[in-house]
Amino acid sequence: MAVIRTVIRGVGASLPKRIMTNQEMSSIVDTTDEWIAERTGIRQRHIASDNELTSDLGIAAARQALVRSGIDPVEIDLVICATATPDRTFPATAVKIQHGLGVTKGAAFDIQAVCSGFVYAMATADNFLKTGQFKRAIVIGAETFSRILDWTDRGTCVLFGDGAGAVVLEAQPQHGTREDRGILSTIIRSDGRYEDLLYVDGGPGSTKTTGHLRMNGREVFRHAVQKIHGVIEETLIQTGYTADEIDLFVPHQANKRILDGIARKLGVGPEKIVVTLEKHGNTSAASIPLALNEAFESHRIKEGNLVLMEAMGGGFTWGAVLVRW
Ligand code: ACO
Repeated sequence: MAVIRTVIRGVGASLPKRIMTNQEMSSIVDTTDEWIAERTGIRQRHIASDNELTSDLGIAAARQALVRSGIDPVEIDLVICATATPDRTFPATAVKIQHGLGVTKGAAFDIQAVCSGFVYAMATADNFLKTGQFKRAIVIGAETFSRILDWTDRGTCVLFGDGAGAVVLEAQPQHGTREDRGILSTIIRSDGRYEDLLYVDGGPGSTKTTGHLRMNGREVFRHAVQKIHGVIEETLIQTGYTADEIDLFVPHQANKRILDGIARKLGVGPEKIVVTLEKHGNTSAASIPLALNEAFESHRIKEGNLVLMEAMGGGFTWGAVLVRW
């Protein structure tokens, strides 16, 4: 039976020029390259300059994805930006990106699911495209987390970085089998009971300030491995695939030990995992599309590959996307 699937047509990325190494970090807070690398896998991160906004990074990533897709911006009718660090409280950063790309039709809006934002945005775009409401979408994950870090808290400021990644999506008729190209499954979940384990202690409606990121790292770690593993199992059951059949695992880049824990539970070998943590740190909603871009540029991802993405973030929110490239 013919169905409409959401096919990925192009991927792109953008990173601020400025790189901050662990060595430099150790001149800001009481830490060492060894501690950070051993506990997290991170060696460096990119930091946006004062005049470099989330939308600037998002526009650059989306432009690259558009060029690679061969699709003209006038053909785009949906722009979704996943971000927890918008340029302004409103309007949505996606609308600014839409304008920056020269897109004037359809709709643009932000999704706020913190580190799971890209997975949430892919799920949202997929549902709009499958129902025929829109034809071609750009999904962007863009963040400037450096702006919401407490640069005196060594337990959090060493973990995050800035950047953006984007994909161009197109609704295409397919056969309706699990061998189809495009998004085969999306699962998104949340549970607000865990708000106090990972949050920002400010906001326009409470403190009238932006606030700083606060986290109970140990508890987040414990939940991340459990919840991500759970949602991957659900994805595999839903689609009838086994972990062995996954060609590439593109996880949210939070911590190398979380990635290793999940991969071990699933039995996925290191050759199938895309890891960009050491270069980017945790870029929240941008981390999956940045990793997809890295896999694309290094020719690790090929048409027909079965690609699994997953993430967990503040809220908690979590989810997974299975796609045939
Ligand atoms: N440098 C040196 N020492 C540090 C640093 C640092 N940057 N940060 C903390 N420490 C110290 C602590 O003060 C503590 O010292 P003490 O024993 O004298 O009190 C010691 O190291 C151990 O601290 P813990 O917080 O228990 O360290 P842990 O082994 O749990 O590692 C970490 C901390 C890396 C944050 C870990 O808990 C983690 O990765 N958690 C997952 C959280 C995460 O990835 N969040 C990202 C957002 S959510 C997401 O994307 C899924």
